[in-house]
Amino acid sequence: MNQPQPKPGILDIKPYIGGEGRVEGVTHLVRLASNENALGCSPKARAAYLAAGADLQRYPDGSAADLRAALGRTYGLSPDKIICGSGSEELISLLVRAYAGEGDEVLYSQYGFLMYPLCAKAVGATPVAAPEKDFRTDIEALLKAVTPKTKMLLLANPNNPTGSYLTRDEMKYLCENLPPRVLLLLDSAYAEFVEEKDYDDGKSLVDAHPNVVMLRTFSKIYGLAAVRLGWAYCSPDVAGVVNRVRGAFNVNAPAQAAGIAALDDHEFLQKTIEMTRMGRKFLFEQLAGLNIRTWPSVGNFILAEFGDKSEAVRNALKDKGIFIRQMGAYNLPHHLRITVGTMDDNQRLIDALKIARK
Ligand SMILES: Cc1ncc(COP(=O)(O)O)c(C=O)c1O
Repeated sequence: MNQPQPKPGILDIKPYIGGEGRVEGVTHLVRLASNENALGCSPKARAAYLAAGADLQRYPDGSAADLRAALGRTYGLSPDKIICGSGSEELISLLVRAYAGEGDEVLYSQYGFLMYPLCAKAVGATPVAAPEKDFRTDIEALLKAVTPKTKMLLLANPNNPTGSYLTRDEMKYLCENLPPRVLLLLDSAYAEFVEEKDYDDGKSLVDAHPNVVMLRTFSKIYGLAAVRLGWAYCSPDVAGVVNRVRGAFNVNAPAQAAGIAALDDHEFLQKTIEMTRMGRKFLFEQLAGLNIRTWPSVGNFILAEFGDKSEAVRNALKDKGIFIRQMGAYNLPHHLRITVGTMDDNQRLIDALKIARK
């Protein structure tokens, strides 16, 4: 072989493909494929982002001190236990890189977020999926799947793409029964959308268990997917590990500025929560009216079953500029995931579905 070769296993990885968002000749696009915020982003965040553009010649603050302080104030946390990343995706990938490698196992739930097995493979570790029951994480199955080789457990709560969640008590039980040598990445990317009283985002679990890391993102409720900004709440030891392996300036300056401003825009947050609550209810009702099976979701998206018509339906919608997400990569070829949009988006989707399914 006369050319450079990547490490074994790298070429077996199927790259993550994001949701589609373009179609030739269609100008009004309804983008419901990536669980983004259909309202846009906070006007305050946009203004801060643009203002930061005046100083592009300067390196950003590599420690993101002001952003960590703002996160600490907003969520009542110590900034020393917060680390920031270029999207929570970067933090997932850095943590897997730092804690797992060849010969190790990285555990996740069967329909857990696709990035988890991909990140495990990227470091030569073996991703191990614990079976789910009815699209819900099965804690006993996860605990049963722990072996001496298990280094990490990656768990989204609520989970994408299923929309299901584990209660505060279930998460407490998991943390109490997981061996403390296993790092638990509790990915609470959609926490702000959950209104159920028995849900907890996991901050208190981090305080009680040094092996738990809570991950958050600015990409969803804050509508800042384009700037790439995420953060984690973890023990100072885990923070120290990430600080050793991350890029020195991993979060760019406009992203830091936008994040600080977004945290201050309660009105935008509230509007997003209300839009999501109303839209989710509307979509559940309308999809039921069309005899399309859905699963309960507490996130800003809904998993729906379309049987063997799934690809045809998705393509028919796409031709009209309406994008929803195929689930083949999750081994769910008969399902599609729909992000909750504005009421106009949701209505367009339902109108198009009525025609596509005829
Ligand atoms: C569960 C979950 N975690 C993490 C991410 C990645 O978010 P970010 O944009 O912060 O990288 C997503 C994005 O869809 C997600 O669904």
